[in-house]
Amino acid sequence: MENATIPVDRTAQDRLFINGEWSEAANGKRFETLNPATGEVLAEVAEGDAADIDSAVSAARAAFRTDTWRRMDAADRGALLWRMADIIEQRADVLARIEVLDNGKPIREAKIDIRQSIDALRYYAGWTTKLHGATIPVRGNLLNYTLREPVGVVGAIIPWNFPLLMAVWKIAPALACGNTIVLKPAEQTPLSALELAAIGAEAGLPNGVFNVVTGFGETAGAALVAHPDVDKIAFTGSTAVGRIIMRAAAGSLKKISLELGGKSPNIVLADADVGAAARGAFSAIFYNTGQCCTAGSRLLVHESVRDELLSGLVDRAGKMQPGDPLDSKTRFGPLISQEQLDRVLGYVEKGRAEGAQLVAGGSRAQYEGEDRGFWLQPTVFDGVQPDHVIAKEEIFGPVLSVLSFSDEDEALALANASEYGLAAGVWTQDVKKAHRFARDLEAGTVWINTYHPGDAASPFGGYKQSGFGRELGEYSLDLYTQIKSVWVDLN
Ligand code: NAI
Ligand code: MG
Repeated sequence: MENATIPVDRTAQDRLFINGEWSEAANGKRFETLNPATGEVLAEVAEGDAADIDSAVSAARAAFRTDTWRRMDAADRGALLWRMADIIEQRADVLARIEVLDNGKPIREAKIDIRQSIDALRYYAGWTTKLHGATIPVRGNLLNYTLREPVGVVGAIIPWNFPLLMAVWKIAPALACGNTIVLKPAEQTPLSALELAAIGAEAGLPNGVFNVVTGFGETAGAALVAHPDVDKIAFTGSTAVGRIIMRAAAGSLKKISLELGGKSPNIVLADADVGAAARGAFSAIFYNTGQCCTAGSRLLVHESVRDELLSGLVDRAGKMQPGDPLDSKTRFGPLISQEQLDRVLGYVEKGRAEGAQLVAGGSRAQYEGEDRGFWLQPTVFDGVQPDHVIAKEEIFGPVLSVLSFSDEDEALALANASEYGLAAGVWTQDVKKAHRFARDLEAGTVWINTYHPGDAASPFGGYKQSGFGRELGEYSLDLYTQIKSVWVDLN
């Protein structure tokens, strides 16, 4: 691997960022973050816990109470967000390197994350001057109008699969609406969030507006959710932790939004362009090494095109080799951790034991000729039955479950037979069928003859147990504002 150290020209420090200052955790503890490609220690950061969360929440509350942030001229707040985007753009190479080393994703994919982070900041920068209430025609000689106000202190908890992007999806709309933030990044990937804190400070965010506490979920994360002075929790992560958060938030009746897991169906009808569907199905499951909440992890194929589609897929899977994630030609990265590798290998075992046919991959892959890092071969199971564990549970790795169907009603029933409802794909050349499926699929996103596109302007979120609340687009503004109704007697 090309010199795998974090760049010296990064601006962030390896400590907590609270009230505009870098500080060690109150308990003095630190923890390591690894480079998933090699398994080597990449850096150490402060291990914040409840005491640090408390300091960060106090700082965020104090910053919310002053007039310098929430009553800043909306145009100036927008300019500040735009400035953050500019700095990210200038430092894109450094940020991409940090993301690659901490997460393991190929640099080509890290650059896409950075592009989308810039877009999201600019998109919400534009919204600051367009957030307004309404005047309402009520009965009587009364003036009634609404004020759209920030919610207050927002706790953001994010996962490791898109560390920078998931942070920006929350902080961009939260800041645009005038909230203050305490961000708890995933323990596996703390570095880009610290970088983002430094960028916010450089752009001119007042002290206390955006705080970052690195640490573990059960300590720092849980303390943030339980904190009585946090008004809202925005969470992306596993459905299991989503349930814990929903229960814990009941204590102080916090507002919550949850982006959780998925087991997204990708449906190939008999009339599909099979070549395009094979390429699409491949990136649907293997992009980001399958560690996408929207991964197209259930491929539902009409039996008449199954053989052709499968041979295209298996062929491509066999050609995917581990490569240096810092090399722009690399297309496939490692899993995030040994724990995740073990978990995914456990699912491969279950698939075999339940009688699905392994047609590609299935084993740990070597990196630079050695058993190091957390690599798994791209894996495809054919002949998966709807009651198999690998057809039902989120695996969160490069493991595809292929199921066949013989008619379209069966395809739709199979697709919707999931506790999840995050995304779905449909491949067909028939425009009527495409829109019928789009209407009937129980999912927050439906892609037709494509998979994975997203945009800061388009809403994203789950049906069913994939969560609730919509990030991105104008819908996200509802998560970070509350409406006040004002009555004036005109007599
Ligand atoms: P996780 O849900 O435990 O972690 C996500 C975030 O939540 C991290 O920042 C973590 O520190 C925090 N967290 C954990 N426990 C918490 C608690 N009790 N209170 C507050 N915050 C808490 O996910 P993990 O353990 O990293 O991965 C386990 C599985 O979860 C994966 O195999 C995958 O199936 C799923 N997952 C799904 C994601 C998605 O976007 N759908 C993202 C990450 C994981
Ligand atoms: Mg790491």
